[in-house]
Amino acid sequence: MKSRTLGPFTVSAIGLGAMPLSMNNDQIYPDEADAIATVHAALDAGVTYIDTADIYAPSWDTMGHNEEIVGKALRSYGGGGADGVVVGTKGGITRGEGESWGRDGSLAYLRRAVENSLRRLGVEVIDLYQWHRPDRWKAYGEVIGHFKTLQDEGKITAIGISNANVEEIEVAVEVLGEGGLASVQNEFSPKFRCSADELKFCGEHGIAFLPWSPLGGTGGGAREVGDRFAVFAEIGTDRGVSPQQVVLAWELALGEHVIPIPGARRPASILDSAKATELVLTDDDIQRCSQSGGIG
Ligand SMILES: NC(=O)c1ccc[n+]([C@@H]2O[C@H](COP(=O)([O-])OP(=O)(O)OC[C@H]3O[C@@H](n4cnc5c(N)ncnc54)[C@H](OP(=O)(O)O)[C@@H]3O)[C@@H](O)[C@H]2O)c1
Repeated sequence: MKSRTLGPFTVSAIGLGAMPLSMNNDQIYPDEADAIATVHAALDAGVTYIDTADIYAPSWDTMGHNEEIVGKALRSYGGGGADGVVVGTKGGITRGEGESWGRDGSLAYLRRAVENSLRRLGVEVIDLYQWHRPDRWKAYGEVIGHFKTLQDEGKITAIGISNANVEEIEVAVEVLGEGGLASVQNEFSPKFRCSADELKFCGEHGIAFLPWSPLGGTGGGAREVGDRFAVFAEIGTDRGVSPQQVVLAWELALGEHVIPIPGARRPASILDSAKATELVLTDDDIQRCSQSGGIG
């Protein structure tokens, strides 16, 4: 498995998005043993970055479900636990009684959220803590300052942001200093290319860019990516690999700072996705993928 830089960490070039194990558009969830088997399959394949969030859960009253699965899977791996695996989680979105959703970027809320994530993951320090979505009631730089406070308190090692535009990334870099922002996680896939500017900006500033829903998302987007965007299926057929592998190889080719985090409920999905790091596309392939239109 090839590796890439994520702030102070070196991680596999493909990460595992753990969200579908607890939240997906099909609303079909594996039982705990099967969910843990999927995480273990990712580790077997050499995946060393796992992405989760406190809100990833089947319902509001099971908040933290995904973090608990990830924690259990890492502790039970190979008998002795998984060493050197980096976990990124997220906070800042609230989920309350009756599925009421909101945002809270206050230091008091974030501190509580970090404490809960630490407990669920069963660790003393969170490797990567990402601000999930902006709280539009607060100044962006002020909330980034709260993340810095949590880092200074030793609760988190690296800071990331998610669903951020270039202006917000610039503010985060200004508050944290050059090298202080480890990653930006934005939606990016064949059907959603609107974060190309953020992808480029991150490459120019040594910030890892983590495409979320890199295959097009749960509920069919990822499964049907080759039907919706024919070029990925055509190149896949030529090379004897899945269209999903071609999508991920294309994203990897967009910059050394890109670390896609494909989601998976089944071991077969992440085992196939992980192979994308070995698939080398030609310049012509990359251009065809970048220019491809689709019906998505
Ligand atoms: N920051 C944010 O706001 C945000 C929002 C959404 C997602 N995310 C992150 O991004 C991660 C990935 O996004 P996502 O799960 O929504 O979408 P995705 O990665 O585009 O698609 C996931 C789906 O793709 C299928 N799949 C994966 N690899 C495959 C392969 N090689 N061949 C065929 N099917 C394959 C999986 O099927 P099976 O389920 O059948 O295995 C899974 O349901 C999430 O886990 C989460 O960590 C972040």
